[in-house]
Amino acid sequence: MYAKRLRGIELSRIRKMFDIQGKDIINLGIGEPDFNIPENAKDAIVDALEEGFTHYTPNNGIEELREAIAKKLKVENKIKRSPDEIIVTVGASEALYMCTQALIDKGEEVLIPDPGFLSYNACVKLAEGKPIPIPLEKKDFRTKPETIESLITKKTKAIILNSPSNPTGAVMEKDDIKAIAELAEEKNLIIISDEVYEKIIYEKKHYSPGQFTENAIIINGFSKTYAMTGLRIGYVTGQHEIIEELLKVHQYNTACAPSISQAAALAALKGSQKVVDSMVAEFKRRRDLMFNRLKKMGMECNKPAGAFYMFPYVKDEKSFTENALKEGVVVVPGSAFGSNGKDHVRFSYATSYDKIKEAMDRIEKIW
Ligand SMILES: Cc1ncc(COP(=O)(O)O)c(C=O)c1O
Repeated sequence: MYAKRLRGIELSRIRKMFDIQGKDIINLGIGEPDFNIPENAKDAIVDALEEGFTHYTPNNGIEELREAIAKKLKVENKIKRSPDEIIVTVGASEALYMCTQALIDKGEEVLIPDPGFLSYNACVKLAEGKPIPIPLEKKDFRTKPETIESLITKKTKAIILNSPSNPTGAVMEKDDIKAIAELAEEKNLIIISDEVYEKIIYEKKHYSPGQFTENAIIINGFSKTYAMTGLRIGYVTGQHEIIEELLKVHQYNTACAPSISQAAALAALKGSQKVVDSMVAEFKRRRDLMFNRLKKMGMECNKPAGAFYMFPYVKDEKSFTENALKEGVVVVPGSAFGSNGKDHVRFSYATSYDKIKEAMDRIEKIW
């Protein structure tokens, strides 16, 4: 009865984890910042409502916002894009969907990180393409250019990169990104670079493949940086020609991103970035606490340099997840992110310092 392309697509197992609540439950399954949106963004929403800014906007988003994004790309990422080469989207999620719909034909292959964010696999399948997992290095979750090269076939169309990564927290090295960008040019492939955790970074520096090749489409958003997950606002940028095609999917899918969310995003981008700095500093404090506790317990865990996730090896993800839940701690089993994530779990530290402390005490009991 339903379309064949929906077969093999499961509803996210992480969503189920999100929903586990209870008085004594500590949920480390959460994938969103537990902070409030910046005050200036709140004010911008109130103003937008009062001024009746509640109608359709241009399909690709309000000009002022696209100009602010173009400026940010130029100054921070060294990527030159005109406001016309940017589409404001309903979250990075919509941008991912648009890219896969606009680029992938039936049977074409898309390389996706494994472990990686769930939507990559689902979006490629929804476009009737074939997701090909890129096994990340066991030791440090590195995305090796050589591994990517070995997976390229005649059917390969695109490579999805995600740095900092969900679920591993790994941040890609400049040289690796550059090498993958060169590979994409040589083989005429497109890189779809998901950079939503760009700002949530502790030790390393963020590099975008867009700095090294015109073949890159950059996806970013406001959900994580400005704790605006519910406002559903993001953007995508690429060469003019690609943007024209993406716009076809966007136009007939959503018409435009919500007007008031665009107002909030503009205020967030133009305002002081101190709110972001203090959120990141708090995430770092929590990361250090969690990492040190896990290390003391003797758990095998790579120290994440970005995002707000940790991805330790727990030997048996099923029994670990069940035992943790018995102690009132929710974690996500690693294989939810791809077969290479098996027997790891994802801990999110987007919850308070005290709760993480308590969660670690409980985990220690079952380890
Ligand atoms: C790697 C990654 N990309 C994209 C998204 C989606 O973000 P948005 O809220 O902007 O749709 C998420 C959300 O968890 C994510 O982890």
